[in-house]
Amino acid sequence: MEHHSNLVPWQVLAQEKGLAIKFIPVNEQFRLDFTKAKEMITSKTKLVSVVQMSNVLGAVNPIKELAELAHSVGAVLIADAAQSAAHLPINVKDLDCDFLVFSGHKLCGPTGIGVLYGKKNLLEQLDPYQYGGGMIKEVALEKSSWADLPEKFEAGTPPIAEAVGLAAAINYLQSLGMVNIEQYHRQLTQRVLEKLKSIPGLKLFGPDASGQRGPIFSFTLEGIHPHDAGELLDRQNIAVRAGHHCAQPLLNKFNLNGAIRASFYFYNDPSDADQLIQALSNLVAVDRPEITSSGLIASSELTEEQEIYKENVLDHYQHPHNKGYLPAATLANKEVNQFCGDTVEIFLQIEEGRIDDIKWNGQGCVISQASISLLSDQLGGLSLEEAEQISEQKILDLLGIPISPARIKCALLSLRALQGALKIGQ
Ligand code: FES
Repeated sequence: MEHHSNLVPWQVLAQEKGLAIKFIPVNEQFRLDFTKAKEMITSKTKLVSVVQMSNVLGAVNPIKELAELAHSVGAVLIADAAQSAAHLPINVKDLDCDFLVFSGHKLCGPTGIGVLYGKKNLLEQLDPYQYGGGMIKEVALEKSSWADLPEKFEAGTPPIAEAVGLAAAINYLQSLGMVNIEQYHRQLTQRVLEKLKSIPGLKLFGPDASGQRGPIFSFTLEGIHPHDAGELLDRQNIAVRAGHHCAQPLLNKFNLNGAIRASFYFYNDPSDADQLIQALSNLVAVDRPEITSSGLIASSELTEEQEIYKENVLDHYQHPHNKGYLPAATLANKEVNQFCGDTVEIFLQIEEGRIDDIKWNGQGCVISQASISLLSDQLGGLSLEEAEQISEQKILDLLGIPISPARIKCALLSLRALQGALKIGQ
């Protein structure tokens, strides 16, 4: 259920120190499987790190119970409160978590700053993670001693402006009252949940009871790529996020490359929720090919020539050329669009320095898939040098339609896959 930021650092640490990482599964109700957690947290467990509110599912995890479980085997518990700190009143003493972290920008504060809470006795045991000015007690030529908490962990010149900004944000939220914010979100969540359920073809990924979740709604719409939906909603002034939300393992579990996510905060009111629901209802009522075609382009004003290109792009998407596998390919490479999780894998058969055969496979939006289909038609017979010369502009010319900045990476995924394959061959 974790954001990459609460997974990748542990992966790196595990590699460095030879640790084993175990994962508490997410069940069909989009909750952590507590029974499995009980079996998995054993006397060998040193650390349990868990998100308090999932940035994809909105699910709120029972930190207090997990801390109890961790403590019963002598492990420490870290709560990732990046979402929850903005949405819920938090009492670290009541939760009895050993550490709790959150970032400034999710609670109306500045970027590049966050908070680490830790129990004093544990922080005292930890070594500084950075050395230099500000974190010392005494320095001699050969040896130094460390300052008391919290300075021990605050080496160098701190981000002063950010700290002042974060304090202002926290004071502001406290003046609204975190309990009030939570209650307000609960009403909003109920309203959104009920209405989302009525939209045909919409699949929600997250608990459907408003008491177990925050106002974060991830969903898919049958037959509509999340980025197309995002683009079409954007044109109606509705800002959602589309992609894997920095939680690829979680999306993989549900066999998804990407999902659409609408997040609400205290500055949203019920009319925002209604506007989203109305826009989604309108979207699902439109013919799927029509959606794909209008999600494809940056603006609806196309020249006659661009209209023809658009038809061509749609045709390549619906009837891709050279799609398949070459099991014995001389060169092969897979690229993933880091923002959405979409893939393009390319296979090249090389004979006497020329591309003799090409196949590709992939999953993704119309732009990325049409782009590789179009490119694959160009490659047969080219020398490796000629293939290397293919430019970004060439790909954009092949597509021939205006591509919005958000979709440039989609358009160029094919070229990245090709370039990677050719590099492997060097
Ligand atoms: Fe994933 Fe286009 S949305 S490549």
